[in-house]
Amino acid sequence: MLARYLLDRPDVVAGRPVLDLGAGSGVVGIAAAKAGATEVIAADVDPYAIAAIGLNATLNEVTVLPVLVDQAMGEPPATDIVCVGDLFYEAALAERVTAFLDLCLEQGIEVLIGDPWRAHLPHSRLRLLAEYVVPDFGAAAAGSPPSGVFAFESKTPRQNRGDEDQS
Ligand SMILES: C[S@@+](CC[C@H](N)C(=O)[O-])C[C@H]1O[C@@H](n2cnc3c(N)ncnc32)[C@H](O)[C@@H]1O
Repeated sequence: MLARYLLDRPDVVAGRPVLDLGAGSGVVGIAAAKAGATEVIAADVDPYAIAAIGLNATLNEVTVLPVLVDQAMGEPPATDIVCVGDLFYEAALAERVTAFLDLCLEQGIEVLIGDPWRAHLPHSRLRLLAEYVVPDFGAAAAGSPPSGVFAFESKTPRQNRGDEDQS
């Protein structure tokens, strides 16, 4: 759903460097590249994902840099926007990713999340931007609500994008 959002709203990433965090097949990063991102880093901890990202980027005729890294650790790379597709499926991982995304916000990096309402999504930190009906598998598929694309927002409301004129 985050890939669809970027293709529907290319202005969000056009002309900007993007980090696809937990890239998997690379679908979000590839969409960002197609939407006009200047540079796309696709980070994943799985070597098979890194191989798949390279193949899928080539098939889609875009340039994406696959990086094998635990991106929930350490400093954010030089980027303008972090895109996170479906990374809140496990409690400890969600906690580490949320801490990393807080670091990103502190450094002025925008964060977008696409998620089918996994159990450990940080609801209180999200502002809904769009909804998409996306097929899922298993028990989650039956009667599940549309998946969401969200802005991840600071704990301090005044630091959030779009809050400047609300004083
Ligand atoms: C459910 S898949 C989502 C893939 C893709 N973002 C999407 O929306 O289709 C989660 C991916 O995150 C990767 N991942 C998990 N922990 C990670 C971490 N700490 N740093 C980078 N990637 C991670 C997994 O290897 C997996 O490829």
